[in-house]
Amino acid sequence: MKQATKKIFMILAAAVVVALFAACGNDDAATTGGGAADGAFRVGVSMPTMDLQRWNQDGANLREMLTERGFTVDLQFAANDVPTQVSQLENMIGAGADVLVIAAIDGDALTEVLATAEAQNIPVIAYDRLIMNTSAVTYYATFDNFLVGQMQGEFIRDALDLPNQSGPFYIEFFTGDPGDNNINFFFPGAMSILQPFLDDGTLVSPSGQTDIMAVATLGWSTENAQTRMENLIALNNLVPGGHPLHAVMCSNDSTAQGVTNALLNAGWTAGADFPIITGQDCDIISVRNMIAGTQAMSVFKDTRVLAANVVDMVSAIADGNTVRINNTTDYHNGIRFIPTYLSDPIVATLANYRELLIDGGYYTEAEIYG
Ligand code: BGC
Repeated sequence: MKQATKKIFMILAAAVVVALFAACGNDDAATTGGGAADGAFRVGVSMPTMDLQRWNQDGANLREMLTERGFTVDLQFAANDVPTQVSQLENMIGAGADVLVIAAIDGDALTEVLATAEAQNIPVIAYDRLIMNTSAVTYYATFDNFLVGQMQGEFIRDALDLPNQSGPFYIEFFTGDPGDNNINFFFPGAMSILQPFLDDGTLVSPSGQTDIMAVATLGWSTENAQTRMENLIALNNLVPGGHPLHAVMCSNDSTAQGVTNALLNAGWTAGADFPIITGQDCDIISVRNMIAGTQAMSVFKDTRVLAANVVDMVSAIADGNTVRINNTTDYHNGIRFIPTYLSDPIVATLANYRELLIDGGYYTEAEIYG
């Protein structure tokens, strides 16, 4: 080899070595998730339904973030049907899942299938909703659900200035599915603020329905909430010019939307007299209702944050690292307190929705304004 050629060859060879070294370095950096980068680590993600906007977002966020970290993802939606969720989980376990991430339809219905997961040492992360009565749940990631309810109660308290008024102000209540353990936090959270005003007569429920089971909504469905609100309207003539109605405490947006529909159908129109309706999730429809004046507030739970927390948990498990948690005393699943990572919810109203949701990149202008 001529001297010049040899020199070029050596430079090229050195460049290749540097490039290879850099590539390995990048790989390591990308994986801080150990064996994950080669796709060998399988994550089964089980979401309850595609019917509600949020679970589609949760599923998409999880799939994207987990895939970016090099995990193989099996994402399934269970059409709000418990046997479907159970069989999807059985399939994930059968296909060799290394971790399961589950937003349960019915927190009490997974004991048997998760016993199989536990027997195979598959860690289970309860996503958003706690899974009850099983020792198989390893971690829980959610928002502070009691605080969500408190925010809804505080909003109504402040909007009606309850501490300084004698009332009576008239209010009805809607919470979610009885099988969803979250309602045991949302509803008591709201009642922790509102119950004293019911007790002293500042607030009155025309229907008298203030018990969590009486105000539950099967499947969190908009239609079921609408039907119940229509019945409550008929029961006490809750129409403009009839019996007054000042507020409807709804635990989330899908129920709030049903209540809004029923009120509009009963002749209520947007404006100062429209009953104060609470919600949570910042669903696009509910954000539009806030803009239209037919829902007063929602609670923003950034699904990107929840998904990122869970992806960090999965990575730590894959690497054998310590999983980050910030609560060990509040979420008992009937067997034990589950190590939990809680994120903070944020109140969303007409005053801050733009900053939170559009400037924050959660929605585009086109998604909200059409
Ligand atoms: C979630 C809420 C959601 C509701 C209905 C709850 O478990 O925390 O964000 O609105 O389920 O899907």
